[in-house]
Amino acid sequence: MVALNVVMLGPPGAGKGTQAERFAREYGIPKISTGDILREAVQSGSELGRTVKAVMERGELVSDQLITGIVRERLGRPDVNDGFVLDGFPRTVPQAQALDGIVADRDPLIVVEMQVPDEELVRRVQGRRVCKVCGTNVSAFGTDPSQVSRCEKCGGELVTRSDDNEAVVRERLRVYWRDTRPMIEYYSGRPTFRAIDGAVPPEQVRQALVGAVTGMARAAGLSVPPGARA
Ligand code: AP5
Repeated sequence: MVALNVVMLGPPGAGKGTQAERFAREYGIPKISTGDILREAVQSGSELGRTVKAVMERGELVSDQLITGIVRERLGRPDVNDGFVLDGFPRTVPQAQALDGIVADRDPLIVVEMQVPDEELVRRVQGRRVCKVCGTNVSAFGTDPSQVSRCEKCGGELVTRSDDNEAVVRERLRVYWRDTRPMIEYYSGRPTFRAIDGAVPPEQVRQALVGAVTGMARAAGLSVPPGARA
């Protein structure tokens, strides 16, 4: 069995979550978002949530050890046997090294970096509205967030993420350029790494992503499923 093991990299607001969600649905594989896992923990008030809440609200990264443990456990579950899409992990060189160890006996990682200018990222993130109940991003339905007040999926209240104000977004970008962008060098020499333009409309990004992933997978000798499960 061949697996598509996809890693989406990019700064805050690049569109990783938007594209990972759709790609995972189309290829019938799980999307694993470390940000979503941590936000669910905060929402539930669990011990993990209490540990990470303030760190996330400051726009800093939670510890490599903690997040790597979460991903190791998640990638140990059977639903990732046919592949996965990782969104938001890895974010540091130690996380990337740990991931290589976790997937050492699997098909190669296919890594895509989404590139978007900083000012566009700040604009996008400040405009984002998410459902307080199910976490859905209202823009995922192509809706202008200013025109609706309830989630179209579950009817929940729409809110701004606590780390989406301008000051915190700029801190997240600073952390990205300091800790995460250098990590991209870790992957950039691999034949299964490619950067795509994320500053174009979502459908164009989707096409570029599918083209990049399937092209790299075929070049690596993997047979690619048709991806018709959208
Ligand atoms: P996380 O949730 O991963 O946040 P992030 O990386 O900052 O990414 P975002 O969710 O802000 O953006 P995105 O790229 O997914 O964009 P989206 O598709 O939503 O992490 C949050 C926090 O958790 C971190 O700060 C850290 O504290 C902690 N954490 C998580 N992982 C960690 C790790 N591995 N190590 C340590 N700490 C970790 O799109 C953004 C907006 O733009 C949306 O409104 C969307 O509709 C819109 N949009 C999307 N695509 C387009 C397009 N092509 N054109 C126009 N608008 C678009």
